[in-house]
Amino acid sequence: MQYTISKKFKSSVERTPRVLEVSEAFGLGLSDKEFVIYDNFKIEINDGDICYITGQSGSGKSLLMRDLAKLMLEDGNSVADIDSIEYDDRPLIDQLGKNMSDALRLLSLAGLNDAYLFVRKPSELSDGQKYRFRLAKVIESEADVWVADEFTAALDRVTAKVVAFNLQKVARKLGKTVMVATTHMDLKEELGPNLYVEKYFRDKIEVEHD
Ligand SMILES: Nc1ncnc2c1ncn2[C@@H]1O[C@H](COP(=O)(O)OP(=O)(O)OP(=O)(O)O)[C@@H](O)[C@H]1O
Ligand SMILES: [Mg+2]
Repeated sequence: MQYTISKKFKSSVERTPRVLEVSEAFGLGLSDKEFVIYDNFKIEINDGDICYITGQSGSGKSLLMRDLAKLMLEDGNSVADIDSIEYDDRPLIDQLGKNMSDALRLLSLAGLNDAYLFVRKPSELSDGQKYRFRLAKVIESEADVWVADEFTAALDRVTAKVVAFNLQKVARKLGKTVMVATTHMDLKEELGPNLYVEKYFRDKIEVEHD
């Protein structure tokens, strides 16, 4: 499927006394400006593609992914977004999987393969561990499309690479479409993306498709 993304913002600056001072000191104009982030950007995403979106902080990765996920949903796909995954505060092992071994499989795919963690509750986990738990629940979902913003952002890079490799492997086996976005650019080898997007400031963007 081909999707077209356009996104721009008009920035108007609130003129507080300090803003006016900064404007004068730095010669900064305060008139409304238009920022174009995507200008009729066309992108082709096929079922089963692994899509890796990278680029600097503030360049537009989250905006792109949110819009693509919305368009895919409108196209009739089911979408599991890591930011919408819900859970309660029971031990992890009780919150996913059809049975014990399925639960263990899902947790270790997401990089949670320590027995000590299986019996912990989400409220006892670090941010990176919680992220991996939500990722395990995304993998468990029946959805056609898996979406993960800030992918592995809070993880050490060894764990990040293991999680990235596992994610693409299970997604490819199940025929899922995956979209991940992160400023980290070190996961190309592990993800082996079908679609690689690198976003720069303004509307500059580079795309590699296999
Ligand atoms: N509602 C808004 N109004 C004005 N500008 C916005 C709005 N939402 C986002 N932006 C701007 O759009 C740009 C892209 O935002 P986006 O959240 O997609 O960045 P990102 O690449 O995901 O960054 P990060 O890596 O920090 O998450 C940013 O420069 C941001 O300031
Ligand atoms: Mg973002």
